[in-house]
This record gives sequence, structure tokens and C-alpha cells, in this order.
Amino acid sequence: GEGGHVHDVDFSFEGPFGRFDQMQLQRGLQVYTEICAACHGLQYVPLRTLSDAGGPGLPEDQVRAYSSQFEIFDPELDDFRPRVPTDHFPANDAVGAPDLSLMAKARAGFHGPYGTGLSQLVNGMGGPEYITSLLTGYTGKEKVEAGTTFYENTAFSTGWISMAPPLYGEDVEYADGHSNSLHHEAEDVAAFLMWAAEPKMMARKQAGFVGVVFLTILTVLLYATNKRLWKPVK
Ligand code: HEM
Repeated sequence: GEGGHVHDVDFSFEGPFGRFDQMQLQRGLQVYTEICAACHGLQYVPLRTLSDAGGPGLPEDQVRAYSSQFEIFDPELDDFRPRVPTDHFPANDAVGAPDLSLMAKARAGFHGPYGTGLSQLVNGMGGPEYITSLLTGYTGKEKVEAGTTFYENTAFSTGWISMAPPLYGEDVEYADGHSNSLHHEAEDVAAFLMWAAEPKMMARKQAGFVGVVFLTILTVLLYATNKRLWKPVK
């Protein structure tokens, strides 16, 4: 197999005015929790951010309940206790799967020495497209090498990945009744992982926009000032 094929997805958070879709983030959290967390960790993401406006926006009592299902060793108690919102999501190195906290920013939608980055700029293609493509890119072919099973995948860089297909479609039952086809589940968890990697994206975009407006106004004012100052000389 040959890898590196990433297809474009129109995520709600793309473009200068893009915003995370709160319901999509909640569905992605569900996929992450029920499927991915069996092997992967999210150890750099604070649980309390699940209630952030602009994120999944869960009510605080739900975040407390969600947190308490994971245990953590507390050195002060010298014992395990349920997690609280100020703790992070658990790490997970049971099978050597990489932590997903920053995965959406660690992978791009273009690959190799010939990638110009234009696709990322023009189509907004990046990590979440890669993750969607990876989860939907299994061909069904397998091979065993040195005792490890590899699965052919059209998005993974080498074409063969040791992660078995985690999603087939209809793997979770969404509370909001949204389609749980393979593609939708993949997009939802990819959007969630984008938020996990860059929770302040919306604030950053807004600050950028305010900056552009400010600079535009400043340009007009300086131009007018310049004209006026030099008027007697000309
Ligand atoms: C690798 C996502 C479920 C085991 C990866 C990578 C991503 C990912 C983005 C990195 C690929 C790369 O290096 O470019 C997910 C998502 C899941 C999920 C979103 C849930 C929908 C699972 C499950 C297992 C697993 C359930 C274990 C049964 C692994 C392993 C790797 C990996 C072992 C390393 C593969 C390699 O480098 O060959 N996963 N994963 N993953 N995942 Fe998952």
C-alpha cells in the first residue's frame, strides 16, 4: 500500500470566522470516550475545559460526573481517587498508542517533500482532515510482519498501520440522533481532537480579526494625517 492520501472535509471551524460546532464536539467526545480511550490517552487536556464556552460546553455537573469515572493516584492520599475537573484526562500506554492531545496539530493534510502547504491554506486542510482520512482509509487488507499485524491504510504515511480499524460505523449511539455512519463518527472525533489540540482557536481568530480591523482604521487615519501635515509644503 501507498499512504499519504488525505481528503478535504468542510469543518465548521475553518476559515477566518469558523466556529467549533458544540454538538459535534460532544459527539466526538463520546466517540473518543467509548472507542479511542481504550488505547489512547489525552493526558495534556484538563477535564474542566469540557465546560468551556466555545468547546463542548458541558454543564459543570456533567463534567464532574464524567471526570469521576477515571481514577488517579493521589500522592497526598497515598491512594487512588476519582478524578475531578481540575485533573487531566488519563494517559494510556497500554498498547503503545500515541497520546492524542496534540495529534490534530502534529499531523498535517499534506505530506512529504513535495507538499507546498497550499492545500492547507486554500482548503483549510490539516490535522482533522488527516484524522478523518485515517479513520476512513482502511482497505481491509492485512499483513503480519515480525509478529505484528499491519492494516493497509491509504492515509497513513507508510500505507500500513498497526492500529486495527477502530471505527466501522454504528459504533456509538448518539444522544442527539445524529447519523453514526463511519464518516460522521470519524469527522466528529476529528473535530473533537482539533478542539483538544487548540481549544482557544475561536478566541485567536477573533483577536486576529479585531487586529485587522484596527490596522485598517489606523492606515486610513495615518494616510489622512500625512496628507494634512504636508499640505502647506506642497
Ligand atoms: C495511532 C487515532 C482508536 C491503537 C493512531 C493515530 C491516530 C489515532 C490519529 C496516529 C497515526 C499517525 O501516527 O499518523 C485514533 C482514534 C481512535 C483510535 C481517533 C478512535 C476512534 C484506537 C484503538 C486502538 C488504537 C481502539 C487499540 C485497539 C493505536 C496504535 C497506534 C495508533 C497502536 C500506533 C499505530 C502505528 O504507528 O502503526 N490512532 N485511534 N487506536 N492507534 Fe489509534
